[in-house]
Amino acid sequence: MAFTDLIMFLARFVSSILVSIARLVPFFRPPPKEVKGEIVLVTGAGHGMGRLTAIEFAKLGATVIVADINEVGNNETAGIIREFGGKVFAFICDVSKKDNITRLSEEIRHEVGDVTMLVNNAGVINVADILSVTDERIQRTFDVNILAHFWMVREFLPAMKKNNHGHIVALASQGGLEGGPFMTDYCSSKFAVVGMCEALRRELRWQKCDGVHVTYICPLFVDTGFVRNPSSTGIKIYTPQEVVDELMIAVLNNIPCVTLPKLHRLSMFVKSLMPFATQEVVFDFIGPRCELDKTKRK
Ligand SMILES: NC(=O)c1ccc[n+]([C@@H]2O[C@H](COP(=O)([O-])OP(=O)(O)OC[C@H]3O[C@@H](n4cnc5c(N)ncnc54)[C@H](O)[C@@H]3O)[C@@H](O)[C@H]2O)c1
Repeated sequence: MAFTDLIMFLARFVSSILVSIARLVPFFRPPPKEVKGEIVLVTGAGHGMGRLTAIEFAKLGATVIVADINEVGNNETAGIIREFGGKVFAFICDVSKKDNITRLSEEIRHEVGDVTMLVNNAGVINVADILSVTDERIQRTFDVNILAHFWMVREFLPAMKKNNHGHIVALASQGGLEGGPFMTDYCSSKFAVVGMCEALRRELRWQKCDGVHVTYICPLFVDTGFVRNPSSTGIKIYTPQEVVDELMIAVLNNIPCVTLPKLHRLSMFVKSLMPFATQEVVFDFIGPRCELDKTKRK
């Protein structure tokens, strides 16, 4: 390595820290980006955080495309958006199948145009020990929670790259940062989402595609009914609106990652300094828990 490379590295290292510190002060922060006129596709928009995300984007003047396997819920979301005068298109789609995603994207391009912001939100979960979950349910977890993200991104990223303009958003989870018991397939799929987002963000940066952003969000439990009776010591159960508010702040400010609770990243760092046995003591104390699924593998 040449001496000048080292100097350049140190200069960039220090300036990135200074800029980050300065941005803690509102005066030095760039204004949040406008989404008026953007075409935003939200998967799993028929319920929970997907619905609220679609509503927030529509309130800001974006054209929103809601897609869900659940026709009733999806139409309800579209109805809510239409009621306040928002622009919305509704499509029924089971994102677990690649062919469905190909068909959906063709319909969207034909009827609406190129998607400029993609929110991969649709998700499923099994809460059971690894030997109790059926093969089909494990397969579905990966189809919906991660492979669908790939098929979606591969459909919509080319136009974003061509215009050097766009945003890929993913609903990951705390389960994508730290494995929890009775959620082996879910946590693995969410680790994959985190990995995909990190890798894609760096790939785009190395390709000088600085107008296409990637954001993923990692909440702990959220009160949407996604899991039954969630609890943990010292960490609140978030309302879906609280999470979506943070998601919107992150997206509008091109922030790559948000954990909820926000201090989780710091606690991960502190925990990594602890012996493994102590990490388990801490995990058992916080003890994120929810009700196990009733259906078992025969
Ligand atoms: N609720 C939580 O505790 C929590 C915590 C962390 C992360 N997340 C993640 O946030 C996302 C949204 O979760 P939520 O709590 O709003 O869930 P939710 O169950 O309220 O909504 C999920 C939506 O996805 C749709 N969906 C499921 N499978 C689909 C498929 N194959 N094709 C199309 N749509 C499909 C459902 O019909 C539903 O409308 C998920 O990815 C989930 O993993 C949830």
